[in-house]
Amino acid sequence: MQDPKRYTITAALPYANGPIHIGHLAGCYLPADIYVRYLRLKGKDVQFMCGSDEHGVAITMKARKEGITPQQVVDRYHGIMKKALNDFGISFDHYSRTSSDVHKETASEFFRTLYEKGVFDTRETEQYFDPEANQFLADRYIMGTCPVCKHEDAYGDQCENCGSSLNPTDLIDPRSTLSGASPILKKTTNWFLPLDKLAPKIREFIDQHSDWKSNVYGQCKSWLDAGDGLQPRSMTRDLDWGVPVPVEGGEGKVLYVWFDAPIGYISATKEHLGDDWEKWWKSEDTRLIHFIGKDNIVFHCIIFPAILMEHGEYILPDNVPANEFLNLEGKKISTSRNWAVWLHEYLEDFTGKQDVLRYALSASMPETKDNDFTWGEFQTRNNSELVAVFGNFVNRVMVLNQKYYDGVLPEAGEWSEADLNAIQEVKESIAKLESSIEKFRFRDALQGLMGIARAGNKYLADEEPWKTQKTDPERTKTVMHLATQITTALAVAAEPFLPFTSEKMRGFLNLSDDINWQSIEGGLELLKAGHELGKSELLFEKIEDEQVQGQLKKLEETANAAEVDNGVQLEPAKEEATFDDFMKMDLRAATILEAEKVKKADKLLKLKVDTGLDVRTVVSGIAEHFSPEEVIGKQVCLLANLAPRKIRGVESQGMILMAEDAEGKLVFVRPEQAIENGMTIR
Ligand code: 2FM
Ligand code: ZN
Repeated sequence: MQDPKRYTITAALPYANGPIHIGHLAGCYLPADIYVRYLRLKGKDVQFMCGSDEHGVAITMKARKEGITPQQVVDRYHGIMKKALNDFGISFDHYSRTSSDVHKETASEFFRTLYEKGVFDTRETEQYFDPEANQFLADRYIMGTCPVCKHEDAYGDQCENCGSSLNPTDLIDPRSTLSGASPILKKTTNWFLPLDKLAPKIREFIDQHSDWKSNVYGQCKSWLDAGDGLQPRSMTRDLDWGVPVPVEGGEGKVLYVWFDAPIGYISATKEHLGDDWEKWWKSEDTRLIHFIGKDNIVFHCIIFPAILMEHGEYILPDNVPANEFLNLEGKKISTSRNWAVWLHEYLEDFTGKQDVLRYALSASMPETKDNDFTWGEFQTRNNSELVAVFGNFVNRVMVLNQKYYDGVLPEAGEWSEADLNAIQEVKESIAKLESSIEKFRFRDALQGLMGIARAGNKYLADEEPWKTQKTDPERTKTVMHLATQITTALAVAAEPFLPFTSEKMRGFLNLSDDINWQSIEGGLELLKAGHELGKSELLFEKIEDEQVQGQLKKLEETANAAEVDNGVQLEPAKEEATFDDFMKMDLRAATILEAEKVKKADKLLKLKVDTGLDVRTVVSGIAEHFSPEEVIGKQVCLLANLAPRKIRGVESQGMILMAEDAEGKLVFVRPEQAIENGMTIR
């Protein structure tokens, strides 16, 4: 498509289960906002849509953890996220939420249309069901031993220890995280999107887009080319939080969160524009672009387009510029470990410095590979680039104009070679900015912007108007005239990246609204001699070492606090036991006589223990915490009448009592002082 009439731009709907952090910003909100602001600056017709993703298991898990309802969770975070993104200058035309009525209607209509067209395969499958909690279990509500690495706390969809993606039925000894019960398999009917059958159409669509960023195109190809190809995926779930399934037999079920969430872009447009929404989603003259993070690629490039195609009335995305991940100080950003820079906190700690973070994140945006954010680099970018180059240039121009000409732009004489060179450099920088943004290369685009400031700074340093003012005031007028035109171009071009700064500069320069991108593309005659300039102030200030140290300290402290917090998350209380239940257990003091590793089992030690009654073998899962040498001679508590079990071919006759500390380290539970082996513990 050469020249679209309008652009529909979306940024991934963030889950309303936690605040926004810098990883979200660098991943999609900032690049989307830069792109949208650039389009608007060029006079294009744009709608920029986003909102909170309020369904899905991420929300219900958070609610359970905090002992509140899912609705309370989403109400809290929707507000926090909306405000922080707005305060940071992310210029959505509308920020909606998927619990809105319009969304429920829109998502239901989509599902019904596909259902009535016979798109879905109705399938009866067996799903894990928790007989105690009386509900089907989402993958995340099932834990068990990973079949690949034997990690005992793998989830039903993934093992976080070895990274394998799993199905709940792959787990060994599955357990429900709701009640601890062993789940049972129970039959249920769900509606599947037959991605296998749709694969040829999807492939054709992807093949038309070999121009997409290579990380995106590559991932799509590898899904399509995977050994067993695309698999049907259920578009409904046996859960009670979400959009109810609007067809017969759908009672007690909701739409799959990845079915409803992307439709949220459409509902947001409807909510915002009323009857005028359709052309933004159904006209071939509209260019649809989804900004997302890399973990969302399959949903936006394969599943959502398949849904749109099957519906039949909608346009498909023209591009899906996904970014990779941003790390923080060399470590993966983690909400649960509180290893993050939270946007709402940044905005409090660095009042009025939105553009510094926008700049630092744009400069190290993870466009083609994961990248790292460090506070040290944040400081350097501010001090050596924004203060020393950008701010310094603008300040000199404003101050000298005021000093020499009372803020009235002087007339220029003939251009010298130096002037022409500076003009050339500025033009090249603008062209670089433009062509890079069009290719979603925001880091290069930022270099284009800084190219304008650098050209201006160098021009002043070479021409030294503060010296020539005494020797050649006519030449000085030309230099200041041109330097002010460059400043004007900088003010306009900065808007997508540094909107707060750009606005201040427009005030300094007293620019009228009609000075926009077209004006700076045309040449550098933006202001006429005699134009009255406004008052100025410093644009940026130095960030001191103490501020950086303070942030680093805060990061470590809150991460440590989270570790303790996470550690003391206690298992739920167990059912009542009678005294007789307890007395059934034969607990005794015993001493470990021998210990050796069990072959091919990293976790197990085979122990010989003296129980006072006999010497017997016990297999214990402590090998990752203790070497055989460390445990020999230790007196321990033994559950002596546990029914013998074969573990890795060795019969274990009892169990040694252990406890776990907050960091997951095992400690022995044992008599404080040595007593005779065989003495009862009660
Ligand atoms: O990954 C996420 O945070 C999802 N909530 C993104 C949804 S994007 C779109 F489909 F709404
Ligand atoms: Zn594993």
